[in-house]
Amino acid sequence: MIYAQILAGGKGTRMGNVPMPKQFLTLAGKPILIHTVEKFVLESRFDAILVVCPADWLSHTQDLIKKYISDERVHVVTGGSERNETLMKGIDYIQENYGSHDDDIVVTHDPVRPFITQRIINDNIEAALEHPAVDTVVPAIDTIVQGTEGKIDDIPVRSTMYQGQTPQSFNIKTLVESYNALTDAQKETLSDSCKICLLAGQEVTLVRGENYNFKITTPYDLRVASALVETRD
Ligand code: CTP
Repeated sequence: MIYAQILAGGKGTRMGNVPMPKQFLTLAGKPILIHTVEKFVLESRFDAILVVCPADWLSHTQDLIKKYISDERVHVVTGGSERNETLMKGIDYIQENYGSHDDDIVVTHDPVRPFITQRIINDNIEAALEHPAVDTVVPAIDTIVQGTEGKIDDIPVRSTMYQGQTPQSFNIKTLVESYNALTDAQKETLSDSCKICLLAGQEVTLVRGENYNFKITTPYDLRVASALVETRD
């Protein structure tokens, strides 16, 4: 089976003083989350599409899905306090409701990357059917400088540097086994889901993203996103 999980459990603190987590803010007349879910329902190979949200935004999210999305495959589920906890809550929901099969895959995506394309979703599905873990990346444009306490430690060769986007896609069995092998400290500090598989010694395959598949994180990003929507219309 092929699943999608929209990881909408975050609080969006870097968006500043706004009344709700950033995924619920309005972009061109509807919530950012809805723009993203609309892209996923266009892919007919998904058996179920989970929107995993903060516990205190559960009924709000359910109302939004009811209002904007008429697709029975979409289910709203409560997330956790960290990104990977949200991911694993979604996996628990999948396994409780649909069982588990060795070849099940999940395509996970940030709700605040509403400009994802069908090509990126398709490439993730194809790659995850063949490989244990998949990350979507774009080549680094700026030189990446690694440093601590105001000093440079290293300047890696730019041609080997990428910026990670989402989707990140997984064979579910591999993901669960890799997650269960982590220590509690690792589970708490890992902010990236592909790193779960890397730490377990799994190969992570790269899929090409797009610069406009950027993550809306700050008020500036929201302004850029609004401008992009306007120029498209
Ligand atoms: N996320 C999640 N569950 C959490 C924390 C984060 O599903 N408990 C998701 C967010 O919804 C987002 C992604 O993980 O899609 C992380 O991206 P980021 O921009 O860091 O989101 P937030 O944690 O919401 O933002 P901030 O760091 O500004 O608070």
